[in-house]
Order: sequence, then structure tokens, then C-alpha cells
Amino acid sequence: MDTLTAITTRRSIRNYTGEELDIGLIKELLQYALYAPSAHNQQSWKYYIVSKKEDRKFLSEVMEFWKMLPNAWWAVIACFDKDKVRSMEFVPQDMWASIQSFLLAAHEKWIGSVWLGLYPHEVEMKKIAEHFNFAENVVPFAIISLWKWVWELPEKTLKDEWKIEVL
Ligand SMILES: Cc1cc2nc3c(=O)[nH]c(=O)nc-3n(C[C@H](O)[C@H](O)[C@H](O)COP(=O)(O)O)c2cc1C
Repeated sequence: MDTLTAITTRRSIRNYTGEELDIGLIKELLQYALYAPSAHNQQSWKYYIVSKKEDRKFLSEVMEFWKMLPNAWWAVIACFDKDKVRSMEFVPQDMWASIQSFLLAAHEKWIGSVWLGLYPHEVEMKKIAEHFNFAENVVPFAIISLWKWVWELPEKTLKDEWKIEVL
């Protein structure tokens, strides 16, 4: 899949098959998240693969729109490491870039994913950090659920025509 096709055909996938997804592949795909641009090249991201169904069930109850998680094969918790951060104000942008790289890499392998927003909900971020016993410097930022998907590309309509202008 070329880059432009990947960008235009990536979708949040919530229709999935029950087929098994190899954890080795998820680990491999996470390598691509590490290549994203970041402020000062700080690369403060840290990824955890949630392998246990009971943990995905716990996560599914943290936020209202995360109900799909118990059905996912894997979930990934995208975190940042405060000890690696040089500019905290840029961390959300770094994380978004890295997560998007991961989503596109997953799509390249036709793995369905949904990005589940967590940051800046501090109470829920803390709840997740405590559940997984993360060290104090590790801050959960977003969740990504992963599975093999039903191969029908959901339609995507762009909302406005005036989003790009020349000044
Ligand atoms: C910051 C962020 C938070 C999101 N949170 C959720 C979520 O909690 N639950 C969910 O089902 N989808 C979530 N999504 C996915 C969006 O609903 C989805 O990207 C949007 O509807 C556009 O569809 P597409 O990804 O297929 O282009 C989130 C996406 C982003 C970027």
C-alpha cells in the first residue's frame, strides 16, 4: 500500500472478525510509531500491549465510548515518560504523531484499529496508571484497540471544502 492510499483509506474499525492476531505483529507495528517526529526529538512515548482480556474489560469501563475493548484481540496503551520529556507542552502533539504512525502501519497490514481518546482526562489517566502499576513517570495518554476486521471500508465524507486556503 502506498502512503497516499494508506492515509485516505485508514478508518476507525469497529466491525471485526474473531480471528486471532499475532502479538509479534503488534510488536513489529509499534516499531513504526517510534519513527514519528517529536519536539526536540524527545521521543518520550512508551507503549504497552494489553494482553489480558480482564484488563481490556477494566479499560472498557473507564470511558463511555470504549465499550468495544473486551472484544479486541489486543489493546495498546500509548503513554509518555515524564523523565524523557524536555518540553511538556509539545507532548500531546508528539503523541498524536506517533499514534497516527502506528494506525497507518496497522492499516498497511489490514489490521483494524480505533484510537480511544484519554488525555486530558486526568482522573481516568490516573485510574489506568494505578490499575497497571505504572511507575510515577509513566503517563497514559490514549488507548488503541486492535483486531482483524471485516474487510469493508467504511465510507468517509470530508466535512468541509474550505479547510485548505492559500494566504
Ligand atoms: C483524539 C481522538 C479520540 C477518539 N476517541 C474515540 C473513542 O473514545 N471511541 C471511539 O469509538 N472512537 C474514538 N475516536 C475515533 C473517531 O471517532 C474517528 O477517528 C472519527 O469518527 C473519524 O473516523 P475515521 O477514523 O474512520 O476517519 C477518537 C479519535 C481521536 C483522534
